Amino acid sequence: MDNLFQLKDKNIVVMGVANDRSIAWGTAKALIEVGANVIFTYRKERSLKKLEKQLANYEDIQPLLIQCDVNSDESIQHAFNEISEKVGTIHGIVHSVAFAHAEDLKNRFVETSREGYAFAQDTSAYSLIAVANAARPFMTEGGSIVTMTYLGAERVLEGYNVMGVAKAALEASVRYLAADVGTDGIRVNAISAGAIKTLAAKGVPSFNTILNKIEESAPLKRNVTLEEVANMTVVMLSQLSSGITGEVIYVDSGYHILGI
Ligand SMILES: NC(=O)c1ccc[n+]([C@@H]2O[C@H](COP(=O)([O-])OP(=O)(O)OC[C@H]3O[C@@H](n4cnc5c(N)ncnc54)[C@H](O)[C@@H]3O)[C@@H](O)[C@H]2O)c1
Repeated sequence: MDNLFQLKDKNIVVMGVANDRSIAWGTAKALIEVGANVIFTYRKERSLKKLEKQLANYEDIQPLLIQCDVNSDESIQHAFNEISEKVGTIHGIVHSVAFAHAEDLKNRFVETSREGYAFAQDTSAYSLIAVANAARPFMTEGGSIVTMTYLGAERVLEGYNVMGVAKAALEASVRYLAADVGTDGIRVNAISAGAIKTLAAKGVPSFNTILNKIEESAPLKRNVTLEEVANMTVVMLSQLSSGITGEVIYVDSGYHILGI
């Protein structure tokens, strides 16, 4: 298995673990299983505490835990400099970070504030560009960057509002970044995950309705699991996907293919 993925001892930065339900945590667990050296970034002390608690179950590894707030260029630069100083080459990044103000998800979309729009874009879309630029000098052997997106980027999903527009920008950024850094052997892709009950998902008012609707109508007649999204993320970080870049890969029980 290790040979198939070729991720053993590769340095993969995982951004966005808030707790054990986070897509980033599911991905980190799967990466540890294939022997990758996972480096975690966290935003808040609260997430650090949760991370330390979860990692207590893994006695034989001592991952690097680095603070990084993606709203700050300085914080991003500092984090990637520190990561590179400690581990050298970076081989992959999981960008699993997004945020919008609660009122911009609850209010009518037409009422989205200028500040709320800019904040959602900055945190959820621009951050991928800033992270790719900060990491690029340390990805000297090429590598793979994977971000998390959602169907709300291309379809109107009630309550997703400003985050849908941010995800649309994120998906476009994936394509422009892929075209740009491909010459450095770096691939950039997005996973469009089906609905999963996480902290971020709690902010979407219609989330339970979405879960029920998918169960009723998706081709697989069920929601996806954290493990399914994590496994595909590992594939997209690995040599198994070496010919794919600039792509949005759906892990959503096939829901996105439906018309009505
Ligand atoms: N849960 C779902 O149904 C679903 C579906 C599709 C896509 N996604 C996407 O997956 C990604 C991960 O979300 P999740 O569902 O695991 O929820 P989560 O709340 O566990 O993770 C979101 C993470 O973003 C981090 N974050 C927010 N602002 C940040 C900042 N300024 N700097 C650094 N980190 C910051 C949070 O600390 C948190 O760890 C997000 O991009 C989300 O939009 C989620």
